[in-house]
Amino acid sequence: MTDKATKYGGGSISIRALRKEFEGGFIAVDGINLDIASGEFFSLLGPSGCGKTTTLRMLAGFEQPTSGQIMIDGVDVAQTPPHKRPVNTVFQSYALFPHMDVWKNVEYGLRWTDTPKGERKPKVDAALELVEMTEYAKRRPNQLSGGQQQRVALARALVLEPSVLLLDEPLGALDAKLRHSLRAQLTALQRRVGITFVFVTHDQEEALEMSDRLAVMSKGLIMQIGSPREIYQFPRSEFVADFLGVANLMDVKVSTSGGVGPVKLGDFTLDAQVPQGYTPGMGRAVIRPESVHLEEGDLTGDNRVPGMVERVVYLGSTSQVYVRLPQGSVVQSLVTNAVNEEPWSSGDACRVRMPSDSLHVLETSGDAAWADDEAATASKAG
Ligand SMILES: Nc1ncnc2c1ncn2[C@@H]1O[C@H](COP(=O)(O)OP(=O)(O)O)[C@@H](O)[C@H]1O
Ligand SMILES: [Mg+2]
Repeated sequence: MTDKATKYGGGSISIRALRKEFEGGFIAVDGINLDIASGEFFSLLGPSGCGKTTTLRMLAGFEQPTSGQIMIDGVDVAQTPPHKRPVNTVFQSYALFPHMDVWKNVEYGLRWTDTPKGERKPKVDAALELVEMTEYAKRRPNQLSGGQQQRVALARALVLEPSVLLLDEPLGALDAKLRHSLRAQLTALQRRVGITFVFVTHDQEEALEMSDRLAVMSKGLIMQIGSPREIYQFPRSEFVADFLGVANLMDVKVSTSGGVGPVKLGDFTLDAQVPQGYTPGMGRAVIRPESVHLEEGDLTGDNRVPGMVERVVYLGSTSQVYVRLPQGSVVQSLVTNAVNEEPWSSGDACRVRMPSDSLHVLETSGDAAWADDEAATASKAG
């Protein structure tokens, strides 16, 4: 495998102030800045219609940007037609030719190249080996499962040895179980070939599991860029907090301008992480359910507030416990169900502990976008 891997290599991508306004004035992509490193598995995550596909199509060259710049390996590709770009795309619909066998379908990927006949065979064989489809080479697409068909589509894209592979919801058409196993196969493949992957999905679990980094998009804007852990644990906006996993959001009064400092939740004062440069006043704090701890007894202090269990949803290994707080809001706590522990039931009085390292004041309220400072500066300069 290793000798094959050497001919592949990851391209780097740099996007500046990229904008796409469709005829009729609809703005699908509203001036985004993005840097993707060579060999990264990078995801664009966001709800349907937020501009993911449009961004990918501009990278591929199928769509002309209204303004802005796309550099691949330091080269501005504005004037480069799609088939001359070092990128290839895998779509949700595999679009294999039904009358061709697997081998021919993959060879078809070389149609735009001037690869002599004799040099095609080793390339096709290598691509099929990469996706572990060698033994299916003689089959027709209708003799394959959905997952196998998608692997053929991958091989057809890989046979061109692109330095960037664009994947638009490639697992979207598969059933849940297959999707799970293909996630692992895709990430393993990406590590092996070292090609930069730009992976589009609306599925937060998929993005968290597979990506080195991801960008969360909404309405043509990038809301946040970071590693899965950073984005899940430190969402900067309500939109991102809500889009990834379950978020307990609370109105708080912030009286510090950064660092760990006191915030007021109703009559109670808690310590929370406050973004640097924060303007003290009313704000929104977020905490994930697994960080909300329920305790018996009357202990106060140390980021505890009294609560009343309102509802318990039993999920087997865990339970979701909904607790009403004195100031009126309800927080969800995710409790692990140990055999020898008395379960919580509605009506129970409890103490709710929200550790200061897990309680964050959001940087922006509403869905204002956050611009990567460096990227924004660079685009102004350029
Ligand atoms: N050719 C087009 N003409 C007009 N509007 C378009 C066109 N293509 C996409 N759009 C609109 O742009 C928005 C973003 O689309 P898209 O990038 O496909 O979103 P996503 O892939 O995130 O679901 C959508 O509201 C879509 O309807
Ligand atoms: Mg799309």
